[in-house]
Amino acid sequence: MADKMWAGRFEKQSDKAADDFNSSIRVDGRMYREDIKGSIAHAGMLGARGIIPAAAAEHIIEGLGGILEDLETGRLVIDETAEDIHMFIESELTRRIGDDGKMLHTGRSRNDQVAVDTRLYLRGECAAIVALLRRAVGAILGQAEENKGVILPGYTHLQRAQPIAFSHHLFAYGFMFCRDIDRLMDAMVRMNVCPLGSAALAGTTYPIDRERTAADLGFDGPALNSLDGVSDRDYCVEILSALSTVMMHLSRFCEEIILWSSWEFSFVELDDAYTTGSSIMPQKKNSDMAELIRGKTGRVYGDLMAALTMLKGLPLAYNKDMQEDKEQIFDAVDTVKACLGIFIPMLQTMKTRPDKMKAAASGGFINATDLADYLTKKGMPFRAAYKLVGEMVGACIKSGKTLETLSLDEFKAKSDLFDDDVYDAIDLANCVERRSSLGGTGAASYDVQREYLEKYL
Ligand code: ARG
Repeated sequence: MADKMWAGRFEKQSDKAADDFNSSIRVDGRMYREDIKGSIAHAGMLGARGIIPAAAAEHIIEGLGGILEDLETGRLVIDETAEDIHMFIESELTRRIGDDGKMLHTGRSRNDQVAVDTRLYLRGECAAIVALLRRAVGAILGQAEENKGVILPGYTHLQRAQPIAFSHHLFAYGFMFCRDIDRLMDAMVRMNVCPLGSAALAGTTYPIDRERTAADLGFDGPALNSLDGVSDRDYCVEILSALSTVMMHLSRFCEEIILWSSWEFSFVELDDAYTTGSSIMPQKKNSDMAELIRGKTGRVYGDLMAALTMLKGLPLAYNKDMQEDKEQIFDAVDTVKACLGIFIPMLQTMKTRPDKMKAAASGGFINATDLADYLTKKGMPFRAAYKLVGEMVGACIKSGKTLETLSLDEFKAKSDLFDDDVYDAIDLANCVERRSSLGGTGAASYDVQREYLEKYL
């Protein structure tokens, strides 16, 4: 760039390395559409209010439209030596339309401009992530339907605990993703306030129409405090926090998929398209995509920490520290989009091994609670039943038996409350089915959950 827009009060050129250090265009260049959109709304308002001649406003809007078109088609390339996208577009405008272009920045500052651009940009990105999360819930519903009736061990402490329906396990993540969508939409409501017209920090002496620009840009209204308007980055923190939670959920899900894909579990097999081999071990099929998603979670947490730390202790109003916000949110948004983009088809194409799940659920003493419940329903106090079943499990482990392989005589030797209906009581499918309490793993609950998730979508 030749002369800097703010060169007036300086006697000396700035240092080349300092210019480079100061420039944010390699990061904020991606907001050119939002910057142009904001400028068009601002110019329209300036013209309508007679702050600049109506003809100049029209000239500006036309010039900006041309710049947008040329950027979209690649006829115009962003100059990476420019200070930022705002300076680049404004100077390109003046280069194209002459002096009228110099009227665009009347009653505005880059401080309110960048805050408008970022909010507009994030509005689009959050909507895209919400759409991806909806598709993830859709993939869960699909897998649940395909695997209706499939039973696997439910775990606590990663120890086999009680048998559950595979669909029940999947639906748990469905609810997490719905809350993720809620969190993003909620953050978007608070973000949807327009800082344009806050100017540098104190507002402006021009008779601007902030209601008009806010409405033009699809905001719910103008920010009512100009200092807050230019220095509020709460929306970045809120969105980063919501995205961190998305990643936390994806990471937990991926961790389970990685575990389930292991030879030891073999509950699922990922499609070849979403796995890789080893350069040395011919037998390997690695869940790299799931591992990468789990790994990238750390990046997004890092972005959140960076934003909170960058903002901590900043005096009002704008400080250049805030330029860092875009690297943080762009990285987080890109990462979450990339992860969901891979996660959804990986989940959709995942094959389950119901036989392996069933075998894992049958091997242990996963129905011990049901055996204790059986005795309790026949009149034994729960604690006494719990103790008796514990002893029976201990004896089975010593003799290499399971509860379902004990003979009726062996049962009766422990308590005369046992009858031949005991086998029904500890049958795995029945154990799942009987947990019909609201939100439990039984089939009635399947329908309730499915209906909720479908309605949510
Ligand atoms: N590139 C800057 C940013 O992203 C734009 C705002 C600059 N404002 C200023 N007073 N230097 O924060």
